[in-house]
Amino acid sequence: MPYIDSILKENRIFYPSHEFSRKSRIKNMQEYSRLYKKSIEAPEKFWGEKANELDWFRKWDIVLRNDMGFFKWFEGGQLNVSHNCLDRIVKSGKKSKIALIWEPETGESKKYTYEELLKEVCKFANVLKKIGVKKGNVVQIYLPMIPELPIAMLACARIGAIHSVVFAGFSSDALKDRIQDSKADLLITSDGSFRNEKVYPLKENADAALKNCPTIKNVVVVKRAENNADMQNGRDFWWHDLINDKNVMDSCEPESLHAEESLFILYTSGTTGKPKGILHTQAGYLLFTHLTFKLIFDIKDNDIYFCTADIGWITGHSYIVYGPLSNGATIVMYEGSPTFPSPDRFWRVVEKHKATIFYTAPTAIRALAKEGNEWPDNCDLSSLRLLGTVGEPINPEAWVWYHKCIGKGKCPIVDTWWQTETGGILISPLPGATPLKPGSATKPFFGIIADVLREDGSRANVNEGGYLVIRNPWPGMLRTVWNDPKRYKSSYFEKFGVYLTGDSARIDEDGYFWIMGRIDDVIKVAGHRIGSAEVESSLVSHEAVAEAAIVPYPHDIKGQAIYAFVVLKKNFRKSEELKEELKIHVSKTMGPIAKPDKMQFADDLPKTRSGKIMRRILKAIAEGSKDYGNIMTLADPGVVDALAKNRVK
Ligand code: PRX
Repeated sequence: MPYIDSILKENRIFYPSHEFSRKSRIKNMQEYSRLYKKSIEAPEKFWGEKANELDWFRKWDIVLRNDMGFFKWFEGGQLNVSHNCLDRIVKSGKKSKIALIWEPETGESKKYTYEELLKEVCKFANVLKKIGVKKGNVVQIYLPMIPELPIAMLACARIGAIHSVVFAGFSSDALKDRIQDSKADLLITSDGSFRNEKVYPLKENADAALKNCPTIKNVVVVKRAENNADMQNGRDFWWHDLINDKNVMDSCEPESLHAEESLFILYTSGTTGKPKGILHTQAGYLLFTHLTFKLIFDIKDNDIYFCTADIGWITGHSYIVYGPLSNGATIVMYEGSPTFPSPDRFWRVVEKHKATIFYTAPTAIRALAKEGNEWPDNCDLSSLRLLGTVGEPINPEAWVWYHKCIGKGKCPIVDTWWQTETGGILISPLPGATPLKPGSATKPFFGIIADVLREDGSRANVNEGGYLVIRNPWPGMLRTVWNDPKRYKSSYFEKFGVYLTGDSARIDEDGYFWIMGRIDDVIKVAGHRIGSAEVESSLVSHEAVAEAAIVPYPHDIKGQAIYAFVVLKKNFRKSEELKEELKIHVSKTMGPIAKPDKMQFADDLPKTRSGKIMRRILKAIAEGSKDYGNIMTLADPGVVDALAKNRVK
């Protein structure tokens, strides 16, 4: 657990200012506790009351039903998510309010009012219908951070198509795997994407993937990079040609959808095998992102909210698109890297648009802190009133830097713990109420019963680390794993009968949660969730590799980085060139975020007599520790010393 030592040493408490608390929705811990108790004692009443904040075409019959372990929320109810994010806001008198400010890596920023965004979404919804997309079809989206991405998602939501966004930094193989699993009918992509002024050929990647994706009938291509993408006659269409057709109207009736119809699939890595398609549905997801965004970011009408996440991940889905828009907020969406053209890029964006709320990942905070204080100090950050973090544990040093150098000591920090599966934030401070301890995500949100269990299912003691679980259902929870309901049950409910998060945590004497990291074979590299099994299969797919094992090691900026142990096939020679080739192979097959940072060739791996690789030992070796635990159960204990001797430092 990389940061646990420093967490244990950290005992400062930071209180919200009176001024902040006075203006916030939940003003103190008494109010939090009172509401929390109500939400736990009568969850259906609590969520039913909150659901009245949304527009329904038909009210629900029942708030919650447990259908043999599959949870159904608001059955009988009908609504439309895009209607709730756009039409409802326009009708509330905010048609001229800015919904989206798009800040490209280079060039002019672009703004959309709620009315303009609604029109764009309607136009594209009509385009989707025209090219034959029907309610219940899956639309795969492989786009960079450009406005067409949220527009495409909302257009799908409008007509009842299910979107499945693939992060544009993923490779063609990763895209292919996801399309093959989702069985999408349509792909939306762009000719290219920009990062650090380089152009990435997204359409080329898409074409490579589509060689093995027979379900895709058409491809819609946004012109972003002007890099002369190849267009296949009859299959591929330019976005601008479709949308500028005179017959495409800028209004489109939102489809009335059942509360439990599918809204989107988002793939994420698990302990074993291929990525899982996490399924979220309409009403519960919308309500949960709506309420968590409203209370945790304490959103006000004049806020300018800047979230640096990519929409290809759940943070972008829930807290760039659905949560903020359903609250009528103004969002800043940034296309490029945090350090382009210089390490003050985020701070310049804050200054330019007078952002009041800033939400990012600890890895970005660590990387930018390292660049020195002069970068933020030379920007006007006085508009900021609230900061947030997500994606991995934040070490107190980085927290304190963020608080002092970015928040100037006056902005509360919401350290928000959640997952792709949870749909929205489950553990987090409420900024006007919760006293903050740097490194702790603090307390559960309303309606959430979080707990820490021992291996035998009993409750862990105060400060004793264990499995983080959620004991009750909540509206934003995943409904199933796409095409694999068995995996839903086995991954999340088999071990304890309650929702297993895959994280370890401890609860301190004040009831504060301290997330310690993943307890399974998932590695959090710079906040990105990487399955060891996926990287291992990528390595083994190279002709030189007989066997591979991946473990995390602590990294100053990324939090965790990837250490690969590789056993070569007999007729391949160990060389630095081959190492480089293998790293590039992973980068090409999975995407650059999965590329191992360190690689060690091994003659053998530590295995039990039944042939199971002992990762705990490899992890100790990668960390440079001699704390291997018991090695006598190994088939050949001698392997360990040989590996430790050749550790890559
Ligand atoms: O390990 C936890 C870590 O991120 C995992 C979920 O990853 P993903 O599904 O990609 O979603 C990331 C964005 C919500 C969790 O199992 N994690 C997320 N937030 C925090 C965190 N770890 C510590 N503190 C957090 N605030």
